[in-house]
Amino acid sequence: MSKTKKGGAPSSALSVMRRQEHHRIALTLNGSARTGLCAPRELLSDFLRHELGATGTHVGCEHGVCGACTVRVDGVASRSCLMLAVQADGRAVDTVEGLATHEGLSDLQEAFRRHHALQCGFCTAGILMSCADYLERVPEPTEAQVREMLSGHLCRCTGYTPIVAAVLDVAASRAGARPISAPVSEETSNA
Ligand code: FES
Ligand code: FES
Repeated sequence: MSKTKKGGAPSSALSVMRRQEHHRIALTLNGSARTGLCAPRELLSDFLRHELGATGTHVGCEHGVCGACTVRVDGVASRSCLMLAVQADGRAVDTVEGLATHEGLSDLQEAFRRHHALQCGFCTAGILMSCADYLERVPEPTEAQVREMLSGHLCRCTGYTPIVAAVLDVAASRAGARPISAPVSEETSNA
């Protein structure tokens, strides 16, 4: 006999109801086909973390301000806390877990490492995903453009100069202007 919650439906009935309330969605996560169940109003950020285990996507403000939850949806940097999971059905979602390859870190991640462009790293996944999108659309940005792009992200501990330097370095390296340079000097690393 199924257990009954006080004043409610039997637990087996609740579990059936819960399954019925949920939608099964299918998406491509970092190049792999994935499916999962989500509630109608579940945020994409929660779905990625709790249903698909993509915990590299961080959640800070949950209202579109900090940028920590940024992922790419069909290639476009998007706040996953401002999207419902059901809106990602059938789409390609890329998270920070997809940046590195079997060969190692991406050039962007490598530049962040060498420029000390992170400390606690809480903001870093979102910043990397924004930068990955931005550098495809604007391959040779100015420093002012990079700073404007980064204005959509809050970093509470690194300071933005090393991040800007890393992004400019990757842009220059990809353009073949020069090899990726040494880290920025200490005098300019915390502006
Ligand atoms: S958690 Fe999405 S913008 Fe802050
Ligand atoms: S590295 Fe800590 S918040 Fe950005």
